Amino acid sequence: MSSIGVPPIPAANSIFLRDRLRAETRPAHDALDTRLAHVDVSSVDGLAVFLRMQARALGVLSECDAGNISKLMIVDLAHRARTDLAVLGHQVPPVAVPPVDAARLHPDAVDYVLAGSRLGNAMLKKRWRSSTQPDVRHAAAFFTAPDYLDVWKTFCTGAGRGDARLPGNETIVTDARAVFALFSHYAADAAEEKVPALA
Ligand code: HEM
Repeated sequence: MSSIGVPPIPAANSIFLRDRLRAETRPAHDALDTRLAHVDVSSVDGLAVFLRMQARALGVLSECDAGNISKLMIVDLAHRARTDLAVLGHQVPPVAVPPVDAARLHPDAVDYVLAGSRLGNAMLKKRWRSSTQPDVRHAAAFFTAPDYLDVWKTFCTGAGRGDARLPGNETIVTDARAVFALFSHYAADAAEEKVPALA
């Protein structure tokens, strides 16, 4: 680390950690995309599935204070997902034992995946905004959150510029895949669940 907190630029034959993360987590992102491909956030049912995934995965991460620069964003988004589920009349299912030990995830891995998720969020927000269903439009907390692209930029100019081949960075790549797996797990759960509506 330099005195201003930015990692030194890797040598010419090295690659940035962010580039390695993008390449090596692409199959995990694709798997998640596939799971979410039929989840239409402009419909009540689709939005509920999406929000249940977010509420649970973000809930697990916020409960154990995961991440570094993304911590406050995670807490905020978890709260917003729960708020919208309540507006839709859905109970947030209690968190079952998570498939990964979230407390042990490398903070840079959590920061990468969660800050990066805001890039795709713009597309989903457009889809949500196109909805003509009043219930969907009323459940607005998640999609009217700040874009948090400053968190992404901070990651890319900070930890993301580290040398991808430093020995410790293997763990960051492995843990980033585990974060994707956490979301995929709850995406599958959320799609299958029959959630009781609030009385
Ligand atoms: C159906 C839902 C999703 C769609 C359509 C989507 C789409 C996208 C798109 C288009 C980008 C690239 C944006 C750009 O380069 O400007 C992106 C990047 C990214 N998304 Fe997603 N995404 C979705 C869900 C998620 C979720 C749930 C997560 C993680 C929790 C996630 C994590 C990431 C990450 C880490 C990146 C940055 C990749 C990089 O450039 O290094 N995405 N996504």
